[in-house]
Amino acid sequence: MTVEEKIKLLSGGDAWHTQEIESVDIPNITLTDGPHGVRLEDKEAGEFFQSKPATSFPIEAAMAASWNQDLIEEMGQKMGEECQYYDVGVLLGPGVNGKRSPLAGRNFEYFSEDPYLSGKIGASFVKGVQSEGVGTSVKHYVANEQETNRMVVSSEVDERTLREIYLLPFEMIVKEANPWTMMCAYNKVNGTHMSQNKKYLVDVLKDEWGYEGLIMSDWGAVSDKVASIKAGLDLEMPGPGKEDEKALQAFEAGELTIEEINARVKVVLELVEKVLTEQKDVDECDFEQNHKVARKVAEESMVLLKNEADILPLAEDSDLAVLGKFAQEPRFQGGGSSQLNPYNLETPLAEIKKHGTVDYAPGYEDEEINEDLIAEACEIAQDKDKVIIFAGTTEKIECEGYDRKDISIPESHIQLIKEVAKVNQNIVVVTNSGAAIDIEEFEAQARGIVHAWLPGQAGGSALANILFAKTNPSGKLSETFPIAYEHNPTHLSFPGDIKQVEYKEEVFVGYRYYDAKKLDVKYPFGFGLSYTEFEYSNLELSKRKLKNGEGLVVSADIKNTGDYAGQEVVQLYVKDHEAVVRRPEKELKGFTKVHLEPGESKRINIKLDERDFSFYSEKLGEFAVESGQFDIMLGSSSRDIRAVETMEFDSNDDLREPLTVNHSIEKLLEDERTGAEIKAILDEIDIDQDNNFYSILLGMPLTVATGILRSFNFSEEKIEQLAEILENTDEEL
Ligand code: GLC
Repeated sequence: MTVEEKIKLLSGGDAWHTQEIESVDIPNITLTDGPHGVRLEDKEAGEFFQSKPATSFPIEAAMAASWNQDLIEEMGQKMGEECQYYDVGVLLGPGVNGKRSPLAGRNFEYFSEDPYLSGKIGASFVKGVQSEGVGTSVKHYVANEQETNRMVVSSEVDERTLREIYLLPFEMIVKEANPWTMMCAYNKVNGTHMSQNKKYLVDVLKDEWGYEGLIMSDWGAVSDKVASIKAGLDLEMPGPGKEDEKALQAFEAGELTIEEINARVKVVLELVEKVLTEQKDVDECDFEQNHKVARKVAEESMVLLKNEADILPLAEDSDLAVLGKFAQEPRFQGGGSSQLNPYNLETPLAEIKKHGTVDYAPGYEDEEINEDLIAEACEIAQDKDKVIIFAGTTEKIECEGYDRKDISIPESHIQLIKEVAKVNQNIVVVTNSGAAIDIEEFEAQARGIVHAWLPGQAGGSALANILFAKTNPSGKLSETFPIAYEHNPTHLSFPGDIKQVEYKEEVFVGYRYYDAKKLDVKYPFGFGLSYTEFEYSNLELSKRKLKNGEGLVVSADIKNTGDYAGQEVVQLYVKDHEAVVRRPEKELKGFTKVHLEPGESKRINIKLDERDFSFYSEKLGEFAVESGQFDIMLGSSSRDIRAVETMEFDSNDDLREPLTVNHSIEKLLEDERTGAEIKAILDEIDIDQDNNFYSILLGMPLTVATGILRSFNFSEEKIEQLAEILENTDEEL
């Protein structure tokens, strides 16, 4: 290939393909969205971006709420099948960005506020898709937690927060699932565009984590082609390249070397070859089977938030009112690049009708209150056994490209619930949203609340199965539902300004913050009710004391003590009793989902390794464990801890801050590196240690204290010995 052709190859050929180079028989491959199913442009459709029919799976937030890694891997495998059917080589997903604010417009398209849950579910997703010989693109690398100014804003984040919260899901997926591609984010991180941020594209991703796949840009994220090639970005999307001429000039001027160009070309060619090698000649796809998998994911993701007086499950052949337009025109997917053309879209109304006598009324048209529609709904509701009302966010409120203004649902939905409650108390509210919403506004009027997320094309039958107990709900919230948005730590800094957004809450994101502030929340991270109950007992640790490089197994008995078969998500949280840095009250470090028949008991085992006790030490520039005690907690939610055991970690990592002559004598006395020596010298100085002059002296830095002692004519020899302690130290204390 000529240099021109090589540079051409480093950009797409168009919106959804890599560049073909005919002179050397390099074909292109197809890359397309998205994380909730295949969104392949249907050129014959005649509509702007109508896509080919494909299975619409539940949104990522729902996938995470299933806490079921095997199921999400199976779902990924089905997505991979549909990619092969449509000759798609790389599926552009999953998105694994964080959820620092409930207002972020694409929270529906990301897994969780907790990076460990995001990493585990994301790895399952990637393994599933790639098991079918189709690539994935883990996005948006990194710190893209808002839509506002997303293409220009700089996310200002400290290194520890990046490592422990925002980079962690990417690191876990790279190491556990080896994604074929990664997608860099639009935004800057600490002032440098991610498309040309060598520190995170090369130093961290490729050198430290050993990533060998391709890094592409988000669509339009390259602002300087030469800088992006030099910083390790392999492929600019979409194509054709905007600055190929500039890149050629830079090469001719010696600012861009052939080695740099060849290094990127090699990665692009490896991806093209991998896709072509793995491509299967598939001319059929079992969309019906995939629909069943979509239903199972939806069923396992729905969260039973409230079930007062066991209003749920509903009896078959109940006389029901079903209210709310979402029952007829389902809110099943999020808006933007993940949107697709569902192969078989059910409606909740039609599915509920299969189980009982149902009268329906829309109750609202849009976000505005409509008195006539509410009156019609009340008329229908008043004589019914029970009333099911659909409420939640609309696409106008929650979508890619913009952030929400608050966490409220439309006034028209709230008013409908309040007015119907005046004529019938037996209300079950089904909420559709991709992120936390304000439940306070209608909770009192609802005896039952089922959060259905945006459940994909099979959400109707999944919901009906939950409402009528064909399936026992087992979903657990993948993000906290706060009592009020103002309780969230980002409400004073989100979304920043055109220049930057500061991640001032540091690692205290989601439940990590609400725990630290001891704030009540509406529904905690990891919360979800069941039609049955589970008992935890016999928590055991395989070891009570760990050293570096060692791990342990956490075991416990989980018993179904109720009348329904069901699944329990056992969550494992770790608490560090004491550290040189501020650490969250608890952090999720393991989970397992266990199916139990009524009365059945199973023993679960969860492994922990050194990393699960670590935090990122900016001093050491790596994750490290501090010696001391840790609590191992098992819970049914982050706020429903059922069992705790304490253990000890004896670490070689020296995380103590370096001591200097500016530290107070008191600090030097406390520290094992200097305490004994300092004490011996002070004891030899003729000074009344009960006198408060002595305690004042202890609060002084060594440099000042020696001067004070001289001015009061204390022993020069002893003063010299004190001063020498730190000056002679050969290691940096
Ligand atoms: C969009 C999104 C990204 C998507 C890409 C292609 O801007 O940020 O997630 O994969 O462009 O549609």
